[in-house]
Amino acid sequence: MGFSETGKVWMNGKLVDWKDATIHVASHVVHYGSGVFEGIRSYDSKKGANVFRLPEHMRRLLDSCRVYRMDLAYTLEQLTDAVLETIRANNFKSCYIRPLVYRGYAQLGVNPMPCPVEVAVLVWEWDSSLGDDALVKGIDVGVSSWTRIAPNTFPALAKATANYANSALIKMQATVDGYAEAIALDESGVLSEGSGQNLFLVRDNVVYTPSLTSSILQGITRDTVLTLTRDLGLEVREQPLPREFLYLADEAFFCGTAAEITPIRSIDKVAVSSGRRGPVTEALQERFFGLIKGDLPDEHNWLTPVGAPVAAK
Ligand SMILES: Cc1ncc(COP(=O)(O)O)c(C=O)c1O
Repeated sequence: MGFSETGKVWMNGKLVDWKDATIHVASHVVHYGSGVFEGIRSYDSKKGANVFRLPEHMRRLLDSCRVYRMDLAYTLEQLTDAVLETIRANNFKSCYIRPLVYRGYAQLGVNPMPCPVEVAVLVWEWDSSLGDDALVKGIDVGVSSWTRIAPNTFPALAKATANYANSALIKMQATVDGYAEAIALDESGVLSEGSGQNLFLVRDNVVYTPSLTSSILQGITRDTVLTLTRDLGLEVREQPLPREFLYLADEAFFCGTAAEITPIRSIDKVAVSSGRRGPVTEALQERFFGLIKGDLPDEHNWLTPVGAPVAAK
């Protein structure tokens, strides 16, 4: 994921040059992980560029701020406008969008509350996160020996920068072990999620995913997949899932803003069914990519045009 190191970054209400989008090393966030963020995508389509589920992402950002007692100087509408303005200022169509709220420079006691709440919006061009072939051929993953953040330690529903120390341990181990990704178990030993993706399993045409109590981020793509599954007329079950369900599944896939819908072809070197992308995964991908590319109608009102003000939606 290289940066072009050019273009504009939105910082506290102003667009600044990429090279000037800096913070002081004594900022609280650098030392204590006192930040929350979002990962969003804009897709070019036959009908122009659209941001996928922008209001839902911004709502989650505000929810994360609430958990961490960060009072924002901007409303949800102002932040959505800031995202669209930043994309337009960089002349991007397809890009990744990273709104970040963090505790800035004031003092370095652990208590973040004396430090200012700062906001930035970065955008950059970023291709498929798990490899070009991944969407068709699927990826090989392993179960991590690292446990996901536990309940009442790091709140999993808040998308906090601090949570990603755990994700980084999971991802590094997977990489060193030769896997594209890993599946982490929660504190009680049931399935949780990947380092930055939600997990889905299919068995006998029923679509399963771990429930919110399994230390997962409540993914926006997860919600998208749940809706598209119901649209296909299939049953979905959000429930605690035992590890061995991984090896019994007919299909498995990850989903997330970066991963989109990525089939999993093996887990712990055990093939998922035939080791090929399954029909439910493929049907969900067709709906998902058809929608974002503009081949299918936006029935759920998930797309925000980059060119138009949010208020006009
Ligand atoms: C830990 C974790 N789980 C799940 C997801 C998927 O969430 P979303 O679909 O909102 O991108 C992400 C990505 O942000 C993540 O970091």
